[in-house]
Amino acid sequence: MSVQTSDARLLALAAEHGTPLYVYNVDVISAQYKALTQAFQAAPAKFFYACKALTNLSILQHIAALGCNIDCSSINEAHLALRAGFSPQRILYTSNGIGFAEIQTAVALGLTVNIDSLSNLDKFGAAYGGTYPVGLRLRPNIMAGGNLKISTGHANSKFGIPIEQMDQVQALRQAHGLRIAGLHVHTGSEVKDLAVFMQVAEIFAALLPQFPDLVYLDMGGGFKVPYKDEEVGTDMAALGKAVADFFAHLEKTQGRKLEAWFEPGKYLVSACGHFVTSVNVIKENPTATVVGINTGFNNLIRPMFYDAYHRIRNISHPQGPLQSYTVVGHICETDTFATDRPLAQVREGDVLVFDNAGAYGFEMGSHYNSRFLPAQVMVRGEENFLIRKRDQLDDLLHNQILIAPKIS
Ligand code: LLP
Repeated sequence: MSVQTSDARLLALAAEHGTPLYVYNVDVISAQYKALTQAFQAAPAKFFYACKALTNLSILQHIAALGCNIDCSSINEAHLALRAGFSPQRILYTSNGIGFAEIQTAVALGLTVNIDSLSNLDKFGAAYGGTYPVGLRLRPNIMAGGNLKISTGHANSKFGIPIEQMDQVQALRQAHGLRIAGLHVHTGSEVKDLAVFMQVAEIFAALLPQFPDLVYLDMGGGFKVPYKDEEVGTDMAALGKAVADFFAHLEKTQGRKLEAWFEPGKYLVSACGHFVTSVNVIKENPTATVVGINTGFNNLIRPMFYDAYHRIRNISHPQGPLQSYTVVGHICETDTFATDRPLAQVREGDVLVFDNAGAYGFEMGSHYNSRFLPAQVMVRGEENFLIRKRDQLDDLLHNQILIAPKIS
């Protein structure tokens, strides 16, 4: 994509701000949003950015300005969305396993709420009856997604109300006079196969007669983005067309004019992000040359947690001969980013960049080993902006309450 951040610019930003550093190019987000809306132009589609992927306020403000709505998975994400300028009408709160108090706050704020358990649906009914519309997050019993950890729709998943419990849903709907405005299914992340989305659509279609008040059918997020060179993402043009045809068919056959909602996270922000690191040490092991970089799973956990692949490039010595390396972090545990990875010859001090690091990178970070969260920079056109400072020691200390020792 032509708007991608150049390596020269990443090197300059590393020199200016130090490493490890996250760099996000919001022009890439704009391009992704445009591609999305074009792919779905014939469908009655509405998009809600799944902000768990990346919540920096400046990024959220950019996404709000694009006209995209937002999907939140916690009440704190909703507070951040409000701060970034999303009106409550543009905020969807898709909960899972949360306490009812958070749902009450979401209602008080005027958000759209998807509920994912019979228990919370019952409490919701008792509190609001039919005065506040509500959506249902369903578990369709479909195995999909890039790996089991990011698969959310299968029969043993903790997410959603099992579709086989529809009679209990109906009993609650009738007992409380609930106004069910939406049905929601998110089968997982990195779903490449269009058939999965259309299978969900068929499940919705079969349920429609039971729900007279529906406004939206929410198919979640999970569009596959390519991480490896040879990978292909979800065919968005084909999906957009299939969804348009499906909703037109629903209108024709059932007389129901409904909205198609989607909650893309990765699709919008994965490609915009680079994670820039520096090489601390190089070690020769019996079977591998080990490159130790100045970060670890506290800053990018996807490779360790999901065996996820991120392209890694040596941008300070790109002309070096290709050699095979194991790339590891400096956390005091095994934190391997890549094994047997061909890289342009690596020297201590070189700058290694991880591509496709915008989604679930910084966001899944921690302070493990009392390490800092990295700084974040936003690039837009020719301009660069620091949008979050690197942590400092005070950030590790500020919530601690010191009690003097007393040995008896
Ligand atoms: N909607 C719901 C209800 C979700 O649970 C998620 C992701 C999304 C939308 C957005 O999915 P996306 O379009 O980003 O694939 N941390 C993992 C991904 C787990 C996402 C959890 N839920 C990763 O780094 O691969």
